[in-house]
Amino acid sequence: MAIRSIAEAELEGKKVLARFDFNVPLGDRDASGTRAIKDSTRIDLSLKTIQYILDQKPSKLILMSHLGRPKGKPNPDYSLEPVAKYLAEKLGLEVYLSESPTDSGLKTLTTLGHIKVVLLENLRFDPREEQGDHEFAQALASLADVYVNDAFGAAHRKHASVYTITEYFNRQRYAGFLILDEIEALDKILHKPQKPFVGILGGAKVSDKIQTIEKLLITVDHLIIGGAMAYPFLKAQGKKIGKSLCAESDVTLAAKILKADKGHKLVLPMDHVVAENPDAPAETTSGSQIDGDKAGFDIGPQSIENIRSLVSTAKTLVWNGPMGLFEKSQFSKGTFSVAQMLAESDAYSFVGGGDSVAAVKQSGYADKISHVSSGGGASLEYIEKGTLPGIQALKYHF
Ligand code: 3PG
Repeated sequence: MAIRSIAEAELEGKKVLARFDFNVPLGDRDASGTRAIKDSTRIDLSLKTIQYILDQKPSKLILMSHLGRPKGKPNPDYSLEPVAKYLAEKLGLEVYLSESPTDSGLKTLTTLGHIKVVLLENLRFDPREEQGDHEFAQALASLADVYVNDAFGAAHRKHASVYTITEYFNRQRYAGFLILDEIEALDKILHKPQKPFVGILGGAKVSDKIQTIEKLLITVDHLIIGGAMAYPFLKAQGKKIGKSLCAESDVTLAAKILKADKGHKLVLPMDHVVAENPDAPAETTSGSQIDGDKAGFDIGPQSIENIRSLVSTAKTLVWNGPMGLFEKSQFSKGTFSVAQMLAESDAYSFVGGGDSVAAVKQSGYADKISHVSSGGGASLEYIEKGTLPGIQALKYHF
């Protein structure tokens, strides 16, 4: 089974329907009432495919995406209007935003000669998108001759516009350049990664990443655990964790993982930056235990040095999830040090996940990382399963 690249498609004179992940963080409204785009990375990463399609002279390019989680109802706070404006500026073309993802006027809009680029309003304004509904997928598919999926960040969802819709494009479904790039990067770390291979996982909950941990433990040489995710592991080892964030169900999961870790690949924090609460003065512990009234909010200096020595020998590095509450400067050292270590390493480095990607960007090291993924949940699920529903659905069954 193979995926076809958009570069193999005949697009001249065709109507092209292309799914992207324009799910970008939005800020306040400006004087004209449009919300500001706080980080345009995901749209910028889509431009290569969009420009390529336009260069092939299609009769229409119909773009689609979700934005946020509007729960199946139209909601002006989640309108794609800021995205339409941004795209129009970047492409130097008018971008018509439809009223809804499948309104009756759309068919007309897509037949008008002077209109080249249409952006469908937020797909999640219709509950049928997330239900993977066939009628909804068919209504979208009826707008075009060719389907392109470049929405890597949404490819783990079995939603109508990324999954069900492919049924209606029997031999006319293609992958965009971003999806192909992400697959190449992930396959590099999944299949025969150069050794030593070091994984670094952080974030809040063990339960969110249990399958990733289990999968990575098979292939990595060391799996470093930081952030709030480390406390259930320390508790499972019988250590005191004070008032640190820790769900009992996560302690059970952590105990199971520790037991399964026969090769002693797991690396836990050796010290912590603690405080009574995130706004109280911080101090560093002298070991891995945390006393009664304090909670851990970052890994400590010994832990950072330990990670540095492991990262310095690595040939492949994967990082997902911050090492602490990095939004607060007194708890940001662990996360920013890891970002710097990856940037300075000669290893192949892959960073995925909203918070770690944000940290890498804030630290100014993003362009020194081999691959910064556009998908959070999608990249984790790809590591767990080796593929994603939206990618499988693009494949041809020859
Ligand atoms: C993301 O932000 O990870 C993607 O756009 C998917 O969004 P979702 O988690 O709301 O499905």
